[in-house]
Amino acid sequence: MEYHIDELISEEKINSRIIELAKQIDEDYAGKELHLVVILKGSVFFACELAKRITIPVTMDFMAVSSYGNGMVSAGEITVKKELDEDICDKEVLIVEDILDSGVTLYNLKVLLSARSPKSLKIITLLDKKGNHETDIEADYVGFDIPNQFVIGYGLDYAQKHRNLPYIGVVVAD
Ligand code: IMP
Ligand code: MG
Repeated sequence: MEYHIDELISEEKINSRIIELAKQIDEDYAGKELHLVVILKGSVFFACELAKRITIPVTMDFMAVSSYGNGMVSAGEITVKKELDEDICDKEVLIVEDILDSGVTLYNLKVLLSARSPKSLKIITLLDKKGNHETDIEADYVGFDIPNQFVIGYGLDYAQKHRNLPYIGVVVAD
């Protein structure tokens, strides 16, 4: 497919929103320690920028799950491709996602991680396609609500490409 990329959210807007989210998290978890569960690969860029701006003690672990192939269409349930290294029992856990689309990934992930008895379990997502949810799941923190368009950049890929774009762009077919 021939396509070009239109900018949807600038690097500056993303950075200032992440500062706001980090402040909110500092307030909400004041006096506590926070364990970030980062969902590979797409969330890594967001998670690093967010973690740098949180001032309460933070630990990080990484997990890879998949509900999508290399295309643009949802494929149902998730598969765990890389497990967490550490136990989350009794921890204040915040799942860090790049994007909430149908919600299938986060719904299944929340069920999976809840069973491991964290002290608390919340979700932060950089982007939320609210109009696309097919499951009963809401993120506790949302960077930006976006329309139902396929987006790339800031960690998000199209067939593994464009993750390194410093802004969020929309894939437009030529
Ligand atoms: P969900 O399970 O449908 O909510 O999809 C979540 C996952 O699908 C994300 O973690 C992304 O990897 C992928 N995804 C959904 N929408 C997009 C998009 O617009 N661009 C790139 N990846 C996407
Ligand atoms: Mg992906």
